[in-house]
Amino acid sequence: MSRASFNITLSSPGSTAEPEADVSAEQTRRTLLLGALATTACLGCSAPARAGEDPPGSDERPQKGDMLVFSEGDHEGKLIKPADLTAGGPPVHAWPQDPKTSVVRNASRLNEILIIRLDAAELDEQTRARAVDGIIAYSAICSHAGCPVTAWVKSDVGDKEVFKCMCHNSEYDPRASAQVVFGPAPRRLAALPLALADGSLSVAGGFIGKVGGAQPG
Ligand code: FES
Repeated sequence: MSRASFNITLSSPGSTAEPEADVSAEQTRRTLLLGALATTACLGCSAPARAGEDPPGSDERPQKGDMLVFSEGDHEGKLIKPADLTAGGPPVHAWPQDPKTSVVRNASRLNEILIIRLDAAELDEQTRARAVDGIIAYSAICSHAGCPVTAWVKSDVGDKEVFKCMCHNSEYDPRASAQVVFGPAPRRLAALPLALADGSLSVAGGFIGKVGGAQPG
């Protein structure tokens, strides 16, 4: 955010000589005026956060103990509970939220998360270890060129539904640590271990795996 700037124009003394007392009074007036303007310009200089700035912590990656809130839709900003998720998908999109400050960590798009509820019996062992009642979470950012992964569709190479990035058609299987099953993505989506806190979904640990795209889009 740009700070306020002030253009101060003071009239230059005329060529006509002024009486000494008048010159002194004029200098005093200018000094007071400049002082007042300087004070006004500095109001808010020490404020911790100015309008338009992201609050501290909003660009930090998800951390253990963070809560998860909807990142879009009618419930945007609300805590996500297991009952909010439809079994079998589609996924919901979420942000992590600092439970102490309530700051939503939405200042970095790399923090957006996909959360989906599947049959726990379908999950492989590693995936199940990071899940809560069949609910699993991954980075929503494609590992190919960093587009958001937006689709939940039947795979081009199987009969199950998968996460799909529509930029270049990469597909990820959430039942198996979001490994790549189709397309140019070079690696799986980063996984986010989940837990429950007071009946809502929370983060059990940081991202497992690299977040973001391997090459520019
Ligand atoms: S950015 Fe997702 S497939 Fe290319």
